[in-house]
Amino acid sequence: MTAPSRVELALARAAVGSACAGALLGSLAAGVYGEPGAGGAVAVGAFALAGGLAWLRSIAVAERATWRTQEAVHTRNTETLARALATVHESHALDAAMARETPNGLLVLDASGRVLRANPALFRLLPVRDTPNGRRPIETIPVPELQDAVDETARTRQSAERAASVDGRDLVLRALPLEDAEGCMGVVLDVTSVRAAEKARRDFVANVSHELRTPVTAILGWAEALAQERDDLPPHVHDMVDAIDRNARRLGLLIEDVLQLSRIEARRADLPVEVEALGSLVDEVVARHASRAEQQGIELRVEVGEELEAEVNAEAFEHALGNLVDNALKYTARGGCVVVGAEARGEGVDVWVKDTGIGIAGVHHPRIFERFYRVDAGRDRAVGGTGLGLALVKHLCRAMRADVLLESEPGKGSTFTIRLPARHTNVTRRP
Ligand SMILES: Nc1ncnc2c1ncn2[C@@H]1O[C@H](COP(=O)(O)OP(=O)(O)O)[C@@H](O)[C@H]1O
Ligand SMILES: [Mg+2]
Repeated sequence: MTAPSRVELALARAAVGSACAGALLGSLAAGVYGEPGAGGAVAVGAFALAGGLAWLRSIAVAERATWRTQEAVHTRNTETLARALATVHESHALDAAMARETPNGLLVLDASGRVLRANPALFRLLPVRDTPNGRRPIETIPVPELQDAVDETARTRQSAERAASVDGRDLVLRALPLEDAEGCMGVVLDVTSVRAAEKARRDFVANVSHELRTPVTAILGWAEALAQERDDLPPHVHDMVDAIDRNARRLGLLIEDVLQLSRIEARRADLPVEVEALGSLVDEVVARHASRAEQQGIELRVEVGEELEAEVNAEAFEHALGNLVDNALKYTARGGCVVVGAEARGEGVDVWVKDTGIGIAGVHHPRIFERFYRVDAGRDRAVGGTGLGLALVKHLCRAMRADVLLESEPGKGSTFTIRLPARHTNVTRRP
């Protein structure tokens, strides 16, 4: 048998109380009305007793209902809380599992740049000397690039990235600001296999191009020799000789561009730069294209401020600018104009090549610096390019920490701008 509930006890107590009250009322009535009226008095007492009981019962029922509701709410709250706790626990366990199992090293730093937490992968990827918690990364992890990245993020509240080679592994060290806290997070990625695959591709392309160079040089030489003997050859082979000459030249240019591109891509560091007088570099490039511009009836002009200097790698700069001038002349009609200009912009310098040529529609702008991307493949190939010119410009600029920008509209001409960065103070000046 189960123990009586609180409500049942209350009911029992109320029933006993009402019975006593009824009996009391009955005897009271008997005392007041005397013997003859005793029957009526008892009836009044019984009536009062029944009324009291009914009243008490309704209170008990109401109380029981309220109590049941409260109990249900309480049970529901408890269950919800338990479920929420389980979810929190589960999500915490999942977070912990993710941090534990990820192959990437993770590090959380507080606002003062001290390590709060590090996952196991961090210990596998980096030579961690001691418990890193509570100290700056560099105190226990002798990889200055990691400290550099987190310092930069702490300073700028922007993500920062460094590359490092540690124990034969190629690592990317990335720092990210934490969104709802003042600290930051360090992520260490092992990109050894990705880099190896990239290198294999580059080596393959470079080897193929290199192997092609020798036979193409021979074909070019013989085509030139044939062209010189043109007048002694039967007329029906003239077109063939011209086609061989033209295509061998194209192939030669393509091979050179591919080799150049793979050489620049293979560089792991930025190109060495020196402070150079931009005027003379621009003049040199323009002089190389002057006779072609004249032949094509295009005005080629230089507008470079006196004494303007910038930090560049002279060879890469001339190569990139040369490609831009070459394009400007290729895609501008007779009577047009090409201007090569330069101007200080903030701490850096902008160098631009502006033409009045056919222009490039906006849809092509995002892809124009990709290899072999052309606005109109048929037409552009006929003009004689390789489709690698702008890809080379982009890579050459990047290797000098410069940017290349495009402004262009069809029919209104194009302006390509090389945005050179501000000068460093520790760069040597050419005598
Ligand atoms: N100054 C320019 N005016 C118009 N179109 C241009 C200009 N420069 C480049 N382009 C477009 O961009 C494409 C890619 O240029 P580039 O990489 O130098 O290859 P290409 O060898 O064809 O010159 C060109 O094929 C052409 O469609
Ligand atoms: Mg080109």
